[in-house]
Amino acid sequence: MTIIAPSILSANFARLGEEIGAVEAAGADWIHVDVMDGHFVPNLTFGPPVIAAVRSATSLPFDVHLMIERPELSVADYIAAGADRITVHAEACVHLHRTVHDIKERGLPVGVAINPATPVTALEPILQYLDLVLIMTVNPGFGGQAFIPYSLVKLRQLRAMLDERGLNAVDIQVDGGVNPRTAPMIREAGANVLVAGNAVFAERDRAAAIAALR
Ligand code: DX5
Ligand code: ZN
Repeated sequence: MTIIAPSILSANFARLGEEIGAVEAAGADWIHVDVMDGHFVPNLTFGPPVIAAVRSATSLPFDVHLMIERPELSVADYIAAGADRITVHAEACVHLHRTVHDIKERGLPVGVAINPATPVTALEPILQYLDLVLIMTVNPGFGGQAFIPYSLVKLRQLRAMLDERGLNAVDIQVDGGVNPRTAPMIREAGANVLVAGNAVFAERDRAAAIAALR
């Protein structure tokens, strides 16, 4: 079953709690929370205080995507704010093995994201420890960008690596440019968790928008 995780980066920030409730009612499975620090990516969004403020808006899992430098310094703050799962960028972690284990030891599912130019093989030494791999299909920082087609090659490579190692429980998440046109190719290439910002929040009928991605 495909998991649909609307990204609140594309939501109306003036009504963030209501927007989260609306996509829950529309059939979302997770809430994708794009944290950006203006350094790792050229955009700045929100952090623990905002996440804590909207935590009570839904019982859906907060899938927190940390597009920040030195994520290891603030993992505890995101957990305290209500994160249910945390994904860090391989490119932002000097000691990725240690950071992955720190998140696991705190009891959360852990994901590692890779940017479009980062090879899937960079994750080979730690695949066995991961609950999720996030293949960025746009350059992180903004919603509404075009899907990068080469991502499908990386998806198939990752699917094969996981299958070869019997790591069938690891989720493959895709993030960026996911819409009714790209979703079938993404699912066919091996992803089971689809993040969508504009494809959901830019639509009036969120239920139809989410159904169109499955
Ligand atoms: C981009 C974020 C994505 C983005 C997706 O840096 O990580 O989650 O919000 O937005 P769309 O689905 O509009 O490309
Ligand atoms: Zn994201």
